[in-house]
Amino acid sequence: MRPIETIPRVSLVPEATPLQHLPRLSESLGGVQVWCKRDDLTWLGLGGNKLRKLEFLLWEALDQGADTIITTGAAQSNHARLTAAAANALGLRPVLVLRKPVRGPGQGNLLLDDLLGAEVRFGSWESWKECEGLLEEVAGELRAAGRRPYIVPMGGSNALGTLGYVQGALEIARQARALDLPLKSVVCTTSSGATHAGLLLGQTAYELPFDVIGISVSLPCQECAPEVLRLANQAAALLQTDPLPPEAAVVFDDYIGPGYGQVDGPTISAIRTLALLEGVLVDPVYTGKTLAGLMDLARQGTWRAGEAVVFLHTGGLPALFAYSREMNVQIGR
Ligand SMILES: Cc1ncc(COP(=O)(O)O)c(C=O)c1O
Repeated sequence: MRPIETIPRVSLVPEATPLQHLPRLSESLGGVQVWCKRDDLTWLGLGGNKLRKLEFLLWEALDQGADTIITTGAAQSNHARLTAAAANALGLRPVLVLRKPVRGPGQGNLLLDDLLGAEVRFGSWESWKECEGLLEEVAGELRAAGRRPYIVPMGGSNALGTLGYVQGALEIARQARALDLPLKSVVCTTSSGATHAGLLLGQTAYELPFDVIGISVSLPCQECAPEVLRLANQAAALLQTDPLPPEAAVVFDDYIGPGYGQVDGPTISAIRTLALLEGVLVDPVYTGKTLAGLMDLARQGTWRAGEAVVFLHTGGLPALFAYSREMNVQIGR
């Protein structure tokens, strides 16, 4: 196997993000010890999981001589905001092609995209293929104007981006070992899939002593589990290691609620529980749903009292403001 340290990347995240114990939440869950991996506390652009993927992707962009980074996502995309921040930090120009409808204009991530000086274009598409076509069109236009664009895929999720959370899995394992934690599971959000895929590949390839559980916030299991596996296996090829068995990707889709980006009662309840018990905030689109899933799995007896579970906090907090109307309705304000 090729050691991950030999694959070049730029530096966009701290040496290690904090692994924080949540004692009052743990107590409320019957003694299952919940630890929060604070990947929301990365340095750039208000932080989040995407920076780990961008370390590998933007190294490739620089290596190819790019001067402009194009990426895409929903109007309130955390990935797009962090790509803009990371591009700025490396002296590259960000172009964001965001999908309509424009939720929260001038608010949340859109406000931050503007503050970061990103060139924001809005578009519509029905499929990823159509979206890719649109990104190629934008790249062609920029090339014709003398620029050298590099396209970062939706969510930073391709083989190279997946390596970010192989690195993340090793970091969690190192921290858990130093604290002598009886770590059973790492629970993460699964959306475009590379965060989950990277953790899973890291866990398998390096034989790390925990399992990885994904909570889908968008797609049913039968769609996102194969995607996680596909990404993990493409990244496994980069590391020259064995592919994973199909059953390796464990995803729960019971916590999506009414749909991607739609705020529901259990999510608000999880957000408020964590805020009240620990003073830690999570977001309504990704981490709030994942936390609702973790809390429900704990109550179902997935882990025993005393066992440790890591909740991966992947960021996304600007959405708290973009979704303030829906959240106020749920809270009853
Ligand atoms: C805050 C946050 N958490 C989790 C995810 C999911 O990560 P992935 O797309 O790698 O599945 C995203 C993706 O946009 C995100 O913005």
